[in-house]
Amino acid sequence: MKSTGGDDDAKRRAGEHAAGMVEDGTVVGLGTGSTTAYAIRALGRAVDAGLDVVGVPTSYQSGDLAREVDVPVRTLDDVSGVDLAIDGADQVAGFDCIKGGGAAHAREKLVASAADRLVIVVDPSKEADRLDRSVPIELLPDARRPVSAALRDLGGEPELREAERKDGPVVTENANLVIDCDFGSIEDPAGLAADLSAIPGVVEHGLFVGLIDEVVVGTATGVETRR
Ligand code: 5RP
Repeated sequence: MKSTGGDDDAKRRAGEHAAGMVEDGTVVGLGTGSTTAYAIRALGRAVDAGLDVVGVPTSYQSGDLAREVDVPVRTLDDVSGVDLAIDGADQVAGFDCIKGGGAAHAREKLVASAADRLVIVVDPSKEADRLDRSVPIELLPDARRPVSAALRDLGGEPELREAERKDGPVVTENANLVIDCDFGSIEDPAGLAADLSAIPGVVEHGLFVGLIDEVVVGTATGVETRR
C-alpha cells in the first residue's frame, strides 16, 4: 500500500473507532487508504463475531481487503442505500477535506454522497486550519490540455500525477488521468469545488465540501471526535 505519512497507531485507533460505529444489518461504505484499512480489518473481526454487514468498496484496494477479511461486498447497484461511509483524507479543515491521495476520490465521493453519514478517519498530521494541499483532479485522458489551461485560469498550478512503478502517468480504476493542482491556501473550498466541477473533462475532484458528518482523529492514547 502506498504511504501518505502519518502515525500508524493513531490511524489504527481512528479506523477501529469508526468500525465500532457500524450497526448490525447495515450497509457501510468502505473508503480507501491505510487508515480505512484498519476499519475494514476491524469490521472483518466483527463479522467473524457475528455482525451482519454489507460493504460497498470504493476501490480495488478496499474491495480486495474486505474480501480477504470476509466482509461481504456489493456495488451501489446492489443496495438501496448506504447507512454509513468510513473514509480517510489527505487533509481536513473543519468539516471540509481533500481526498484522492490514492486516486480513488471519484468512487469515494460517489459512495460518500450515497451515504446517510460520512465519517472521516485521520491521524493528527492530516489536520489543518485551512486546506492548502494540492487538489487531486480526475480527468478524461483527452482533456489534459484544456483542463490544465482551465486550472491555470483558476489560479492553480497543475501537475500530471506520474506513476511510481510504471512509466508514464497514473491511470485510475476508471481509465482516466489525475492532475494534482496546487491552489495555495484555499479560502473558499465550496466556491473552488463548484468551479472545478464546471470544467468540461473533469470527472471528479478531491475537494469534499458539505459531505462530512463526523471527523475521528486518532491520538496517542485514544480518539477525538468532531461532529
Ligand atoms: C484515497 C484517499 C485516502 O483516503 C487518503 O489518501 C488518505 O489515505 P491514508 O489513510 O492512507 O492516509 O483519499 O483516494
